[in-house]
Amino acid sequence: MSVEQYQETYIQQVFADRIGGVNYGKDTNIYKFEKIKRAKAAAKQAFPNVELIDMGVGEPDEMADAGIVAKLAEEAAKPENRGYADNGIHEFKRAAAQYLADVFQVGGIDPDIEIVHSIGSKPALAMLPSCFINPGDVTIMTVPGYPVLGTHTKYLGGEVYNIQLTKENNFLPDLDSIPAEICQRAKLLYLNYPNNPTGAAATTAFFEKVVAWAKQHHVIVVHDAPYAALTYDGEKPLSFLSVPGAKDVGVELHSLSKSYNMTGWRIGFVAGNPLVVKAFSDVKDNNDSGQFIAIQKAAIYGLENPTITEAIAEKYSRRHNLLVSALNEIGFHAEKPRGSFFLYVEAPKGVVNGPTFDSAEAFSQYLIREKLISTVPWDDAGHFIRFSVTFQAKGLEEEKRVIEELKRRLTDVQFIF
Ligand SMILES: Cc1ncc(COP(=O)(O)O)c(C=O)c1O
Repeated sequence: MSVEQYQETYIQQVFADRIGGVNYGKDTNIYKFEKIKRAKAAAKQAFPNVELIDMGVGEPDEMADAGIVAKLAEEAAKPENRGYADNGIHEFKRAAAQYLADVFQVGGIDPDIEIVHSIGSKPALAMLPSCFINPGDVTIMTVPGYPVLGTHTKYLGGEVYNIQLTKENNFLPDLDSIPAEICQRAKLLYLNYPNNPTGAAATTAFFEKVVAWAKQHHVIVVHDAPYAALTYDGEKPLSFLSVPGAKDVGVELHSLSKSYNMTGWRIGFVAGNPLVVKAFSDVKDNNDSGQFIAIQKAAIYGLENPTITEAIAEKYSRRHNLLVSALNEIGFHAEKPRGSFFLYVEAPKGVVNGPTFDSAEAFSQYLIREKLISTVPWDDAGHFIRFSVTFQAKGLEEEKRVIEELKRRLTDVQFIF
């Protein structure tokens, strides 16, 4: 029987309210990423011989470093690595603590009680609300942003309070704008720097303010930092944990997905406040049985060799340079981010003698349909599109060709900003 046929059976009647209850799956709204997927498929079908320039992907275009892959092969063959890893091996925790010291100058992290591995940051974000959120409790999220901590807060009967990230505030949340009633009910504050999708970086002064605010309102800070080591032009990687008092108020989530081209490998870690780490470890222990030990050991090789990340960052930095100058030549106002994959630019209002765009989504759809250029639109706070420098290209010459081609496709029209 098909999905539609089963919708006529009792199975449709028993879904939990958190995913739509009896109406689960019947929502006809198409979500943003599905729309992009469909528009890409339609554009490819309409112009099968034209290259689709994909600036929408949020994951690296290359595989992990050969040394990491070789280490996995070696460790995967050892019988002692075969079993449940539970809350992880000590060597991984130790390597993670050393990595925080080497790359972020964060000393004094106790690997035994202040670090635990995760099967990537996404599941960690999904589990953390189970440690803190009772019905009616609030998680403060930033928008636009990565929504997983908020989604699970709502699953548990909690509420989400969104703070907009605006250009005027350098895409940092204005904590003073949060109403007193929300501060009182808030248990979690989600931050993510360098930020997806704005590309914004935090500052030490901002993090200091966060620590003071969290102490005042008794809120746990969850700093999601998968792009933290991908910084450009001499910008030093900045950890929330480097700020005095950070460990008293929260945790930081690290991931090897982006900084080591290991998205599919599913490995990261949670570091910081030992009581938060303990609660997370308990909840995690009831969710998964740990990442394959051979993957943890391959990840140790990565963590011990941060020059791998530096080379990856150099590639993204030069791609950002190419993309920023191409877009600015066409009339966009693009500013190179200090970190992350993402170049976040304001969408034009329309095209001279052509269509008008009342949203970033309308502009993004136009780019796919008319120009075969895929981006991700954000209409949560202003109208912006996100270009990601993880587009497919092997080496500098190919990168230049892709960017030239993007520019060529956008120069035969005049955008209105
Ligand atoms: C801000 C942010 N957090 C978390 C993740 C998920 O990372 P992981 O692969 O470690 O689950 C992503 C991936 O796109 C992200 O952009």
